[in-house]
Amino acid sequence: MNILANILPFFLKEIDNFSRREIISFAYLSIEKILGFSKSDCILNSNYILSDEDISSFEKIIVDIKKNIPIQYVLGETHFYNLKFNVNSSTLIPRPETEELVRYILSHNFSSVLDIGTGSGCIAISIAKNSKASIDAIDNSKEALEIAKFNAILNSVDVNFMFNDVFGFSVTKKYDLIVSNPPYVLNSEKKYMHQNVIDYEPHNALFVEDFNPLIFYEKIALIASKNLNSNGLLFFEINEKFGEQIIDLLLKLNFVDIELKKDINGRDRIIKSVFK
Ligand SMILES: C[S@@+](CC[C@H](N)C(=O)[O-])C[C@H]1O[C@@H](n2cnc3c(N)ncnc32)[C@H](O)[C@@H]1O
Repeated sequence: MNILANILPFFLKEIDNFSRREIISFAYLSIEKILGFSKSDCILNSNYILSDEDISSFEKIIVDIKKNIPIQYVLGETHFYNLKFNVNSSTLIPRPETEELVRYILSHNFSSVLDIGTGSGCIAISIAKNSKASIDAIDNSKEALEIAKFNAILNSVDVNFMFNDVFGFSVTKKYDLIVSNPPYVLNSEKKYMHQNVIDYEPHNALFVEDFNPLIFYEKIALIASKNLNSNGLLFFEINEKFGEQIIDLLLKLNFVDIELKKDINGRDRIIKSVFK
C-alpha cells in the first residue's frame, strides 16, 4: 500500500465484517481524514505516494473498523447539518433525524435558545451557525462539554456551554426556544439495537429505565414552563412509542399548539409546542 490507488483494494482485502459499499465509504472517509483528499481528488492523485506515517494511520483505522468501532469514533469526526463535528466515546454520534429537528427549528423565529443535553453540541452549534440567536447549552457530561466547546471553535460560532444536570437545573434566564434530544431509548430496547451502539456509544446519552421512560420529558417540560418567554417554543426529539404520552404531559403544563411530526422514515420523532 504505497500509493493512494492501493488504499481502496487494501481496505476491501482487510475488512470482512461490513458490506462492500460500507467498506468503500470507510476508505474514502479515511482518505479525507488522513490525506485531505476528496473522492474526486483521489482520481486526480491516484499515484500520490503515501508516507510511512500515512500507511500506519490507515492500518490503525482498519484495526479499529475490524473491532466494530463506529467509523465516526474511529476517525473522531462526523458531519451534521453540513458542518464537521468532533466526536468521541463521551458524545453520542449525531443522527440524521436530529438534523430534521434542526431544520424544523430553523423555520421559526427566535432570538435566544437553550439546548438541554447538548452532547457534541450538534443542535446548538448548527442553530448558531444558521441564525442570529444567542445560544446556551447544558450537559451533565464534562467530557462531552469539552468536545462541544471544541466543535463551536471548529465551526466559528459562539455558544455558552454550561455544566448542569437537568435534575438540579439552576439556570434562571428566560429563552424564546428550548430544545432537547434527551436520553429516550428503553433499557428493554437494547436487544434491538446494533451491537456497536451498545458497545461504544455513551449509555447515559441513550438509555432510560422502562419504569420511568418520560423522566427527562417531564423535567424538561417543567423547566420550559418556567424558563420560556410567553409564546416561547419547546422542541423535543422523542421515542416514537411515547408521542401521545408526551403530548398529555405538555397539555397538563398548559402548552398549546402541539405538533407531532414524523421523520423521513415515517416515525413520530419531533414534538413542537408553544408556551402561553
Ligand atoms: C441523546 S443525547 C443527545 C446529544 C445531542 N444533543 C444530539 O442530539 O446528538 C442526550 C444527552 O443528554 C446528556 N444527559 C444525560 N443525562 C443528563 C442530565 N441528567 N442532565 C443533563 N444532560 C444529561 C447526555 O450526556 C447526552 O449528551
